[in-house]
Amino acid sequence: MNRHRFSTEEISIFRRSLLAWYDIHKRKLPWRDWHDIDTNIVAYRVLVSELMLQQTQVATVIRYYETWMKQWPNIKSLAEASEDDILKCWAGIIIDSIFYWSYFFHLGLGYYNRARNLYKCAQLIINEYNGEFPNELETMINRLPGVGRYTAGAVSSIAFNQANPILDGNVIRVLSRMRCIGSDLKKKSTTDFLWSLATDVVCPERPGDFNQSLMELGATVCTPQKPKCNECPVQNQCLAYQQQKEIESILDIEQCSANCSFCLKSSDVDTNRSLVEHYPRKKSKTKQREETSFILIIYRLTPKLEFLMIKQKQSNLLSGLWSFLEISSSKNHLDQMNEQKRKTYIIEEIQQMPTIDTIPSINNIKLAGQCRHLFSHIDKQYIIYYTHCEQNDVLIPSTSMQWFNEEQVQTSAISTAMKKVFNVALPQIKLKTSNGKKNGTIDNYFKKKNSKV
Ligand code: ADE
Repeated sequence: MNRHRFSTEEISIFRRSLLAWYDIHKRKLPWRDWHDIDTNIVAYRVLVSELMLQQTQVATVIRYYETWMKQWPNIKSLAEASEDDILKCWAGIIIDSIFYWSYFFHLGLGYYNRARNLYKCAQLIINEYNGEFPNELETMINRLPGVGRYTAGAVSSIAFNQANPILDGNVIRVLSRMRCIGSDLKKKSTTDFLWSLATDVVCPERPGDFNQSLMELGATVCTPQKPKCNECPVQNQCLAYQQQKEIESILDIEQCSANCSFCLKSSDVDTNRSLVEHYPRKKSKTKQREETSFILIIYRLTPKLEFLMIKQKQSNLLSGLWSFLEISSSKNHLDQMNEQKRKTYIIEEIQQMPTIDTIPSINNIKLAGQCRHLFSHIDKQYIIYYTHCEQNDVLIPSTSMQWFNEEQVQTSAISTAMKKVFNVALPQIKLKTSNGKKNGTIDNYFKKKNSKV
């Protein structure tokens, strides 16, 4: 059995769990409030709400949906309206959505086209379908302007109780997490597969509710960032969640055979995000280039522990942020140097830095360790050293060079990368400055630190 698919048993548990959750937790939304109304009006309401929801947040849509329905409560009234009035109502949504998407994005994509298409749909249904909303999926897709597979799936399942699937951003997220689909969404094979999963799971007894429960889960629990996995009704069936709990090593990510086209690849893993958040895979970016840098943390005791930081120049990757001293290197260069040569190289480079012409003589630098940080376009490896500055007055603070105490390092405008670097070096520096107390091992440092918490 392909683990990227649901088994028959999993499907029935999935449907049951999700619908039970939806019955309790669904948001009360005006377009869901339609019991006992004829399906023709329901279809119209679903169409209007779905088209509005495709570009705007739920909270904004609620207001405009209600205004819209008061003005044009059915297909006939919309077909008889003036296009100007319709566009005017739609314009309100645009203005209110400026903070949701970018204004230019709306205009660039012909934002008004959805309103125009809605108007054309109403006229077509009146003129060619005798005012009866066509209830076949294919007819909706082929005949109704602006209605694609998603909208037709929503209308046919919600209004006409047909077991047709839907796939929008929320559903993609839920399904790709449930089945660990980590392949590129730009690939047709990925979206085809997700459509086939959505088709497999849709509940024949309650297709409309089921489809909405998938969207609801994606919108409220299975969110892009910080998903609330502990509130998820289908947590037990979520492979991404299981993977996150069990994973020992990122090498275990590819659990199928090496050539599985749907698994997330180990190289896509960003250690700054939870594993669940990796699904669906972000649109493929150009590969990050690999870089290596040496970091030298210069500290002093005044008697408080302080660290020398310099402000990055505007042209730098971390411009405007405070950093420790950094010397770029390359993998090749690194491989050619033994530890002693590296230290000599760092000292020489630092003494030639134009920003710090008053650097004290440095001769005893120590290796603290390494860490890695993924920037949007750079995969950076830091090799971290530290040294004690004994000549307190040599390094004169300026606007671009300052001594920071530990708390300032943790709370100032310092990049995440530098915080990682700092956290590698700090225990060792503390250990060093504890004057070689007995048993002053790193383990003991952490024990002491933890016992204070
Ligand atoms: N997003 C788009 N349509 C939706 C619906 N019917 N319920 C919840 N979220 C949605």
